[in-house]
Formats: sequence, C-alpha cells, structure tokens
Amino acid sequence: MEAVNRGESYIGDLSSQALSAVVTSGQLQATTDQSRIADVDALCICVPTPLNKRKEPDLSYVIHECEEISKHPRRGQLIVLESTTYPGTTREVVLPILERSGLRVGHDFYLAYSPERIDPGNKSYDVKTIPKLMGGIDSESARLGALLYRHVANTVITVSSPEAAEMTKIFENVFRNINIALVNELALLCKYMGISVWEIIDAASSKPFGFMPFYPGPGVGGHCIPLDPYYLASKAKEYDFHTRFIELAAEINEQMPYRVTSDIIDIMNAHGKSIKGAKVLVLGATFKKDVDDIRESPSLKIIPLLREKGAEVLYNDPYIPEIRIGQDTLASVELSRECLSEADCTVIAADHSCYEYQYIIDNANIVFDTRGVTRTMKGKNIIRLGE
Ligand SMILES: NC(=O)c1ccc[n+]([C@@H]2O[C@H](COP(=O)([O-])OP(=O)(O)OC[C@H]3O[C@@H](n4cnc5c(N)ncnc54)[C@H](O)[C@@H]3O)[C@@H](O)[C@H]2O)c1
Repeated sequence: MEAVNRGESYIGDLSSQALSAVVTSGQLQATTDQSRIADVDALCICVPTPLNKRKEPDLSYVIHECEEISKHPRRGQLIVLESTTYPGTTREVVLPILERSGLRVGHDFYLAYSPERIDPGNKSYDVKTIPKLMGGIDSESARLGALLYRHVANTVITVSSPEAAEMTKIFENVFRNINIALVNELALLCKYMGISVWEIIDAASSKPFGFMPFYPGPGVGGHCIPLDPYYLASKAKEYDFHTRFIELAAEINEQMPYRVTSDIIDIMNAHGKSIKGAKVLVLGATFKKDVDDIRESPSLKIIPLLREKGAEVLYNDPYIPEIRIGQDTLASVELSRECLSEADCTVIAADHSCYEYQYIIDNANIVFDTRGVTRTMKGKNIIRLGE
C-alpha cells in the first residue's frame, strides 16, 4: 500500500512512471481502511480466487470483502466483481451478503460482474485495448457498469447477465487449458514417432483459417489457466454434470512437470550419467516468459522432483532472485560460461526474451528445451520436448 502511494509499481506491466502520474495528480490512493468503502461511487472487487488443498474453489477473499462492503453501505453505489469465478457467484454468493446491509439491489445499489482479462507480459494488448465484458444483475447495473468502464477500455461489451460474463471468462481460460493439453499430448506422441511437434505447429499455422497455434511446454502455471477449470468443474457437479474434457485436460497438463523430469533422467542416462549426483541448471522459474510471477510455475515442481532423485539443481531467472523449495531457499545463479559448462544438463523451462539462446547452447553441455525456443538454432547438444 505504501509503495503504491509513493508511486512505486510492483507489477511488471505497469511502470512506476505511469503509476506515480496518477498518484501525484490525486487520482489514485491506496488504503487498507475498509471504512473508506462508503466514500466512493463505485467499487471493483478484484481479490484472489484460489483453490483449497482439495482443488475446490476458495471464495473466502470474495466473501470477506463483500462482508466489509455490507458493513459500510452507500446508497447509489455500483459494485463490480472482477475476480475470476464460476457462473452464479455474483448472484448466489455476492448479492445475499451485500443485501445484509439492508440496501436492495436495483433500488439502493447496483451490482455487476466484469472479468479481469489482462494477459501479463503481453505487449500487444492492455487494459485499454482488451474489450471489457459487462454483465449486470439488472439493466441499470449493466448500464452503469458500462459507463464506468468506458473510461478505461475502448470497448465495453454488455452481455445478458453476470452468469454470462462469468461463464465467458471461464470458457476463455478452459479453451486455452484444453488446447494446451491437446498440444502437450501431441508433443508426447511426436517424440515416439520421431516427428518434431514444433515443425508440425509451424506448418499447421500456415493455414489461414480454422487453426490457432498453441505450444507444448513443461506444464501450465499462473493463477488462471490451471485453476479456473476447477471452478467450472466444481459448479458443474451441482447439475450432476461431469466436465470430462476439462478434467482430462487438467490431468494431462498437470502430468507435464513429471514428464519433463523423467525426460531429463532419460537424457542423463543416454549420456551415461545418473541423475543422482548430476548437476542440472534450470533456466526460468516463472510460469511463462517475461513475467515475474511464479504462482503454480512448473519449475517449482520440476526442481524438487529432480532434487528428490538426487540431482544438484541450480536455477537462473532474471525476474526472480530467489525461490523457496521446501525448507530451502535457492538464489538465482549468474548465467556465466562456467555455470553453463559445469552443469550436466541445462533445462529451458521459461523462454524469457532476454536470454541469449545461442550463448547458452554454445556453452552448455546438454540443453533440454521445453519451449521450442531453439528450434531455428543449431547445436548438436540440443534436445527438445516433443522431438
Ligand atoms: N493478475 C492478472 O493478470 C489476472 C488476469 C485475469 C484474471 N485475474 C483474476 O483477478 C483476481 C485477482 O488476481 P490477482 O492476480 O490480481 O491476485 P493478487 O494475489 O495479486 O491479489 C489482488 C489484490 O487483492 C488484495 N487482497 C487480498 N486479500 C484481500 C482481502 N481479504 N481484502 C481486500 N483485498 C485483498 C491483495 O492485497 C492484492 O492487492 C483473481 O480472481 C484472478 O483469477 C487476474
């Protein structure tokens, strides 16, 4: 909070310059004082929506914040839930808590759902250019929500209900999860068949219609793609409906860090080395390239799996100075010539744009590329996932 009020951004995609411009002009103030809720005309709730240990939706943050709002009612206020969640949350969970204040939706306050659709690390689209979806509990809530977000987004698309907006957001992420699972499965098959999955994706991408490239990798991460399918699957059970396709995709993607680990063991074996005592350098701790987010990152699964097998594991990530693995804290090592040449295997786990891949290939003993970033590069020491 103090950092935001000093104009210091901790979010990779948001510059401190842009943040401090709105802080110094008085347009933005951060506070943890919940009584300030009653000072504003509109509230956007964007708290975390994680899973619990049994992979069930954990709405405790949303519930807590709604309880706070109901303690500080303000007539005429617009409340918009932005957190990703299953269809029905706004109406079935949020609304009854808000109405505990005694105020009635559509008369005393307005309620809508508008999903957060930002793609961290994506330089092509931002909050302004990504169309904003809006689903109001009633038509006045939808109208006010659209009016608010038109100040931020170039396009606001109003759908028929909060449920439609909630479902659209989950569908977008389930769509990604399933397509990534499909290409991960194809990568495993291509390896057995001696065909390069990367060549196939590049060739298929030449079709101008009906195909959209997705890429295999060491597993899905972040706080959206691996979690959101479980939100929908959990809600579907209320309708005696099993989302088999979604659960299969989650299963395939969750197996990928284990597959990558067993590939590394096989690679070491093929080079006459046991994984026990081998030195493995993992490049990239984040869940995808060019972000500083390690939530649900495949690297955080691969590193302990390799350590359990007796490997000495080092990692480098320019965005992440240290990581916790069990009781241990590992510090990012310098990506020096010595470090690369001393490692028995260097694993490209996140394909950050700042890495000099030819330098890595030239100095490493074996490079295991799980992202296909080296596919146009030469080097006898490169082994790629899905080849
Ligand atoms: N970050 C993204 O790029 C992104 C993209 C799409 C959707 N989402 C969705 O947006 C939601 C938030 O994600 P995030 O990555 O910003 O989460 P986050 O973990 O960064 O937390 C968001 C904010 O919530 C605050 N917070 C936590 N508990 C709180 C509480 N009890 N009361 C008030 N504030 C509280 C935190 O301090 C933080 O500022 C999730 O539902 C996520 O799925 C995020």
